[in-house]
Amino acid sequence: MMVCEYKPGLEGIPAAQSSISYVDGQKGILEYRGIRIEELAEKSTFLETAYLLIWGKLPSKEELETFEHEVRYHRRIKYRIRDMMKCFPESGHPMDALQASAAALGLFYSLRDLHNPVYIRDSVVRLIATIPTMVAAFQLMRKGNDPVRPRDDLDYSANFLYMLDEREPDPLMARIFDICLILQVEHTMNASTFSARVTASTLTDPYAVVASAVGTLGGPLHGGANEEVIQMLEKIGSVENVRPYIEDCLQSKSKIMGFGHRVYKVKDPRAIILQNLAEQLFEKFGHDKFYDIAQEMELVVEEKLGSKGIYPNIDFYSGLVYRKMGIPTDLFTPIFAIARVAGWLAHWKEQLAENRIFRPTQVYNGLHEITYTPIDKR
Ligand code: SDX
Repeated sequence: MMVCEYKPGLEGIPAAQSSISYVDGQKGILEYRGIRIEELAEKSTFLETAYLLIWGKLPSKEELETFEHEVRYHRRIKYRIRDMMKCFPESGHPMDALQASAAALGLFYSLRDLHNPVYIRDSVVRLIATIPTMVAAFQLMRKGNDPVRPRDDLDYSANFLYMLDEREPDPLMARIFDICLILQVEHTMNASTFSARVTASTLTDPYAVVASAVGTLGGPLHGGANEEVIQMLEKIGSVENVRPYIEDCLQSKSKIMGFGHRVYKVKDPRAIILQNLAEQLFEKFGHDKFYDIAQEMELVVEEKLGSKGIYPNIDFYSGLVYRKMGIPTDLFTPIFAIARVAGWLAHWKEQLAENRIFRPTQVYNGLHEITYTPIDKR
């Protein structure tokens, strides 16, 4: 058996063969099933892109209408899950609430028929349809209010924004939110997708797969960075403080949130699109001084770290878009999860198609042949 050299974080080590998405980190290219994200962001919708990723082709008009219909009429969550969420502490993080609720879904659908395309499709529809409802339900309940029922007359993104604060969103905000979901849906073998594939490879149910991936996404080095970026911009407070802040980070060797990427060594193509979306919102709904701070950060970080290939990633601008929409900061990562569920499910399906349980090896650097020392001799 060929033994590869140990690489921390499996950097550069292929963990799967996949045809779902492709990244060129040097050129800043991201494709979903071969289609550039710039084209999908301009012409597609989140549900159409989710279909493309999961079933490997753009749906026909009828296929898309059927998929949209199924998702629209599966948005409600079981009252028992809602009652369970009422017991969650208001101070809990919404990502923990989402992970618990996604796992709880599995209690209602425990019969696994992983080789049945109908079971796979039902699980996909149920998870894509209910995850936004769970995120919105926890948001209202932690404020002491009853969650609102999804509105069947609103499309996917407009309905989520409605469920967050019981107001129909501005059409431009709903469209921009839908594009944000397209940009966040899939990104090859990132940590949470790898987590999903490892969990899927044991043939557990898709609800456990998604719960496992949600837990992984929440970390500040991964999906949790978008929340940290806003907290960083608040802490910096003004354009004048940007350079001293960055110099302190470099001095203390601490990471600057929203910058850097294991794969992209140029500006993340998703950040470029998100920056444009943010500017559209500022033009219509008024400026945000945090944007000035962010642009100054981008200039100073390029000056200091550009030679290392450290540029803005997706999380640097996504938070500014959501902040302009009035979305609470600690919901930014759950929104990332709302999008990424479709990517995780595409990888779940791909893993099942040619499964081999993940069981890597290790480089052992511990001791051998140690004699047990009785407790009275230690
Ligand atoms: C996402 O994988 C994906 O595809 C993820 C994602 C997706 O769509 O799923 O794109 C979403 O997770 C985006 C990343 C969000 N995270 C952050 O913004 C947190 C800040 N970024 C860093 O933690 C870091 O850039 C990572 C974790 C994203 C990538 O880290 P790597 O590839 O492991 O790089 P590294 O930590 O080995 O750093 C290499 C060098 C180091 O300097 P030296 O020790 O060589 O001198 O670059 C430096 C690091 O100090 N560096 C940074 C930095 N990122 C890397 N220095 C300051 N600030 C940073 N943000």
